[in-house]
Amino acid sequence: MNAKWILLLLALGFAPAALADEAMAKKAGCLACHKVEGKLVGPGFKEIAAKYRGQGDALAKLTEKVRKGGKDAWGPVPMPPNPVDKVADADLRGLVQWILKN
Ligand code: HEC
Repeated sequence: MNAKWILLLLALGFAPAALADEAMAKKAGCLACHKVEGKLVGPGFKEIAAKYRGQGDALAKLTEKVRKGGKDAWGPVPMPPNPVDKVADADLRGLVQWILKN
């Protein structure tokens, strides 16, 4: 495969997939309180990924936490619940998967 094809594949496949998840995070309102890197109101996604790396139950645990909200994992400031009308189940799971890959 030559370089032109690789660039085309990147343009069509990989780059938009990454953007779609960040766009999804924006659409769901997560980016009002989170950045990919560094603390805003809540912890950065890279910091979250580092904290839970290697923990098999992180996806299920964090999906539930984001849905219901909660505090004390990072500090006293709570994350409010993110109801299903704001972010659907499949989208929420995808978002947490993406966060854990940062
Ligand atoms: C109003 C601000 C706010 C919004 C909106 C918000 N978060 Fe949070 N988030 C926080 C805060 C604050 C924490 C830290 C909570 C804690 O210390 O337990 C947090 C923590 C988290 C954590 C780590 C939880 C843990 O137990 O370690 C994840 C994952 C997360 N948020 C994802 C999301 C996603 C995905 C969305 C969008 C659907 C979102 N957040 C929307 C403020 C927010």
